[in-house]
Amino acid sequence: MARRTIGIALNGVTGRMGYRQHLVRSLLAIRDQGGLPLRDGTRLWPEPVLVGRSETKLREIADRHGLTDWTTDLTAALARPEVEVYFDSQVTAQREKALRAAIDAGKHIYTEKPIAEDLATAVDLARLADAAGIKHGVVQDKLFLPGLRKLARLVEGGFFGRILSVRGEFGYWVFEGDWQAAQRPSWNYRAADGGGITVDMFPHWHYVLEQIFGSVKAVTAHVTTHIDRRWDEAGEGYDATADDAAYGIFEIEGGIVAQINSSWAVRVYRDELVEFQVDGTEGSAVAGLRECRVQHRATTPKPVWNPDLPATEDFRAQWQVVPDNEEFDNGFKAQWELFLRHVAEGAPYTWDLWAGARGVQLAELGLKSAREGRRIEIPEL
Ligand SMILES: NC(=O)c1ccc[n+]([C@@H]2O[C@H](COP(=O)([O-])OP(=O)(O)OC[C@H]3O[C@@H](n4cnc5c(N)ncnc54)[C@H](O)[C@@H]3O)[C@@H](O)[C@H]2O)c1
Repeated sequence: MARRTIGIALNGVTGRMGYRQHLVRSLLAIRDQGGLPLRDGTRLWPEPVLVGRSETKLREIADRHGLTDWTTDLTAALARPEVEVYFDSQVTAQREKALRAAIDAGKHIYTEKPIAEDLATAVDLARLADAAGIKHGVVQDKLFLPGLRKLARLVEGGFFGRILSVRGEFGYWVFEGDWQAAQRPSWNYRAADGGGITVDMFPHWHYVLEQIFGSVKAVTAHVTTHIDRRWDEAGEGYDATADDAAYGIFEIEGGIVAQINSSWAVRVYRDELVEFQVDGTEGSAVAGLRECRVQHRATTPKPVWNPDLPATEDFRAQWQVVPDNEEFDNGFKAQWELFLRHVAEGAPYTWDLWAGARGVQLAELGLKSAREGRRIEIPEL
């Protein structure tokens, strides 16, 4: 079968997301399955060019996976004609400069979220990319997770009747780093380095809400830094200047109210690290990363409030598991495949830099809402 190679410069590949999700679980997994089958029968073969700051780390990753193409010179990588796509999973603060260079070089771009640190930059990048006539995309991985795919399927099938509200709970305890090492990179906890849970998570909540329920019309947020002292990768203490918890209310078209708590200072008493409960007139659902459970109007119990009596019902047992009914691949890989098809054969693709900019806008307005202590309506971009 004919094979077409597509060069992809991967910048930030030594990081958590770049290495595990994008290189190993997505691009190398696509190679392991023999490439990506296209409509015309050819197989698209991703050829990663690893880009980063540390020769040692790049060489080590290349060796581990039988790759040979790596460089610390982004400009040189972007000058190569066989490199058609630039992918960015660097720390957020480094993204803008690299995306601009890639757009200038005429490469298609695919990037981690948030696409920029502020809305003005995000919009500028989207405009530049459109003007350059390149194809562009932003990672919106949560949409491709089994739990959320099943939730979207319920919405599409009309299961809920009129949807009333969405309650999201995201978070876990991120260790401070003194007693036990922190399980997230320290830049996330320093505002000056692009950290903060609002800029990290509101872009995710934006596309989840927009794509599954409808456009987000207003935000009210309370944002705080619960843990203000942390210890970095080298064991050095630092002041945590970025927010580590964001409590948001999002008003969605059609009167749906979504409340989502995001926190790195919460201990998990849930089935999954993120869960959304959706209540509608005809039924309710609780979706996590993998699972989704429902309760229909007809099987809804009628609890009566009486604090004098112990709870007699096992409320959790009254929900039904939504079956998979299809095979779910890794969410990052599933989205890579769609983006690569978009580049290689013009397949439709909706998650572009404008979608990324709307996510940045929600984070920016959420922070403004918190600063000013008020509800903020979200203008259309
Ligand atoms: N889609 C998701 O679910 C998801 C999850 C986590 C993070 N992210 C995003 O992915 C990006 C990377 O996050 P991560 O958790 O992989 O971070 P990380 O710290 O593990 O990796 C950061 C990468 O950026 C590189 N880098 C370039 N310039 C740097 C500099 N000046 N300082 C530090 N590192 C620099 C590092 O070498 C490394 O390769 C962020 O933009 C983050 O918002 C997305």
